[in-house]
Amino acid sequence: MGQDAYIDYIQSFFRRWAPLYDLFAAPIAYVYSAAVRFASFPEGTRVLDICTGTGQIAKRLAQRGTSVVGVDISEAMLAHAVQRGSHGLFEVARMDVRQLAFPNRSFEYAIISLALHDMPRKVRLAVLAEAARVSRKVLVLDYELPLTNPWRAIAWHTIRLFESPYFRQFAREDPRELFREANFEVVRERKLFAHWFTVFELSPRF
Ligand SMILES: C[S@@+](CC[C@H](N)C(=O)[O-])C[C@H]1O[C@@H](n2cnc3c(N)ncnc32)[C@H](O)[C@@H]1O
Repeated sequence: MGQDAYIDYIQSFFRRWAPLYDLFAAPIAYVYSAAVRFASFPEGTRVLDICTGTGQIAKRLAQRGTSVVGVDISEAMLAHAVQRGSHGLFEVARMDVRQLAFPNRSFEYAIISLALHDMPRKVRLAVLAEAARVSRKVLVLDYELPLTNPWRAIAWHTIRLFESPYFRQFAREDPRELFREANFEVVRERKLFAHWFTVFELSPRF
């Protein structure tokens, strides 16, 4: 597994956050559930949860009959996902998502929930490319702060207190620009939680 400064940072960042992550995720439980409803995958759909973390999305997808594999690099976060996915609810594997250990098109969907903002921009592009390689369509859930109202300042200052340094660049860019550069088109999108988050369905452009 190739080590670099970003991976070292992410590992130690999430080692610290893992014990508290689900506590902080509780107020946005609605966001996860709304994203899963937006996905509305038919029962049995094979989904790769890229950067599964503690398995918040993986669990909700699996409970709706989706066949889920969750992957992440943080052992500390995965320990929670393993517990959450126990009794065969979903599978978990440790890997760097820049190089997914799956053949081309092995999943119908890939989902990337609240993770692109924790990566340098070039890593975001690499991860989106891997998602396009292993699946047919991609769902992304992430912050998209309102640009034109006072909520932006409040949201920005609150969120940057606990997010990784990569968040700042992520929040300044229109995610549609990133998706275009990664060769995806946006099929559908929905804003969630007073417009703090958006969920996108993306389709690769050929
Ligand atoms: C904020 S958490 C999101 C977890 C989960 N998807 C959710 O919505 O709650 C971001 C996750 O991305 C993972 N991550 C970041 N870069 C990664 C990489 N290159 N390979 C694998 N996992 C990575 C981190 O370890 C962390 O668990």
